[in-house]
Amino acid sequence: MLSQIKEIAAKLAPRLIEIRRHLHSHPELSGQEYQTAAYIAGVLSSCGLQVQELVGKTGVVAELLGAQQDSRLLAIRTDMDALPIHERTGLAFASHYPGIMHACGHDVHTTVGLGTAMLLSQVDEPLPGDMRFLFQPAEETAQGASWMVRDGVMDRVDSIFSLHVFPTIPGGSVGIRYGALTAAADDLELTIVGESGHGARPHEAIDAIWIASQVITTLQQAISRNQNPLRPVVLTIGKIEGGRAPNVIADRVKMLGTVRSLHPETSAALPAWIEQIVAGVCQTHGAKYALNYRRGVPSVQNDLALTQIVESAAQEAWGSDRVQILLEPSLGAEDFSIYLDHAPGTMFRLGVGHADRPNHPLHHPQFEIMKRRS
Ligand code: NI
Repeated sequence: MLSQIKEIAAKLAPRLIEIRRHLHSHPELSGQEYQTAAYIAGVLSSCGLQVQELVGKTGVVAELLGAQQDSRLLAIRTDMDALPIHERTGLAFASHYPGIMHACGHDVHTTVGLGTAMLLSQVDEPLPGDMRFLFQPAEETAQGASWMVRDGVMDRVDSIFSLHVFPTIPGGSVGIRYGALTAAADDLELTIVGESGHGARPHEAIDAIWIASQVITTLQQAISRNQNPLRPVVLTIGKIEGGRAPNVIADRVKMLGTVRSLHPETSAALPAWIEQIVAGVCQTHGAKYALNYRRGVPSVQNDLALTQIVESAAQEAWGSDRVQILLEPSLGAEDFSIYLDHAPGTMFRLGVGHADRPNHPLHHPQFEIMKRRS
């Protein structure tokens, strides 16, 4: 089957480049992918696939059935939203919409999903199982996967596969990761409540700014002493506000942060551990607090057996010199993990970097994928 797949892929390539450029020049923000979804549905219907629209708000689902009844069902998930970034690539097919850009390569992912569906609908040999193609909205806001799952896209699914482009891997290569690929990412909102007073008479007040600084310092130090150093935890307070005047002791400080971890047991224990430290520091200094710990997405844990299948397939198709085994996970987050609560799966990194010059990172206004070698 591989030689026929390569033959069809070569024939489809010009059309897929056209599709990707169309998607790139018409980016839409998370949850607003109406034109993108309609375009995807049009391409899929023209290949004779059964298409369902408005799944998970603006998502699209298509199925390609194999020869046998009641066979296994394999899902391929791609995401299709863009970012609120003003494109500065200067490409001929750059974004038509000011302030919106496909700067995370979801245009490429969508094209890969469409290309896979187009290709498999053309192979002569009947497929040994059923395929479901998921085109997910709102990955950037970590909402889309939950919307899709709520609408039943994981019903009957035995395994699920996905990919993300990666500029530090050269174009034409893939990165394979066994186990944890991305981190669990949660949000933290913490308010420290003290008692206001004169800046010259600290003993008559409860200084929320000083206590907030103690909370931050204690949390950062406690990570190094209480958390297993082989199971990383990153806690970043990215926003802090409080106080009104130089000579008035602040009665209230609010801070917002993100909490990242890789190991599911660590992730599960973090909210209670953080609260224990916050409560301890506040109690010591007579302050009150309000802590709102919101679960974001869990860590993507790649299934070992399915990852092995991707690795062997990539080696067979492209040669082992173009398959990298990734030794380190990322502390970035990816809502593909939501699907993995329902079936095992794996996500790989698709190299899109230029080998001969520096590459802009994902989410950069000049992010570009490698130009095709002619
Ligand atoms: Ni992305």
